Amino acid sequence: MKNYPNVTIFNHPLIQHKIAILRDESTGMKEFRELVEEITTLMVYEAFKEVPTQKVMVKTPLELTEQTMVADNAVTIVPILRAGLGMVNGVHTLFPTARVGHIGMYRDEETLEPHPYYCKLPDGIEKSNVILLDPMLATGGSAVAAIDELKKRGCHNISLMNIIGVPQGIETVATAHPDVKIYISTLDRQLNEVGYILPGLGDAGDRLFGTK
Ligand code: PRP
Ligand code: URA
Repeated sequence: MKNYPNVTIFNHPLIQHKIAILRDESTGMKEFRELVEEITTLMVYEAFKEVPTQKVMVKTPLELTEQTMVADNAVTIVPILRAGLGMVNGVHTLFPTARVGHIGMYRDEETLEPHPYYCKLPDGIEKSNVILLDPMLATGGSAVAAIDELKKRGCHNISLMNIIGVPQGIETVATAHPDVKIYISTLDRQLNEVGYILPGLGDAGDRLFGTK
């Protein structure tokens, strides 16, 4: 795969460990959901070292001191429905007051084209750093369409976070939206003939919500 300046692949051993369990077909819904949250928290911790901050005064038992805290409205979380919902709590662990927008998107099973069906974004999102969430980056079609929606609303600081991606998806998003920062925990080999990631973990939405 070509080198894209805005793409970060973590390959962190502590995240890899959790992804190995996530992939296992015998991992049940509860553990799957917990792992998705934990991996997301670790990814966000790595990715947001340069989050906007503000100075605050704190009175310790000994004296008044100037301290640093995360700025208000620093980030807005936007999951791509459904599977991105599984990552929201993992971001809220680190940004508990972050507001949440939702973009509904499903892939046509035949054409693999994304179909937007819902979009509700908080007022003022364009002034915030948007964390766009989806555990799976396959063809990249859903991510590109979701970023298109965000840009229509004036968002210009967007970070896409995927747990598993393939080169095809990364190339598609990085080419369509070279300004977007893409963070991926692990790079898988390829898509199969029906658009599933190999080795992958199956259908993330079904495994999170028990629909199959
Ligand atoms: C899955 C996944 C992504 C999309 C990735 O969603 O959560 O949104 O596929 O594929 P792409 O990169 O080829 O667009 P799906 O369409 O299965 O919907 P769901 O989350 O409601 O199950
Ligand atoms: N969406 C999923 O949930 N899994 C894949 O492997 C590809 C797209």
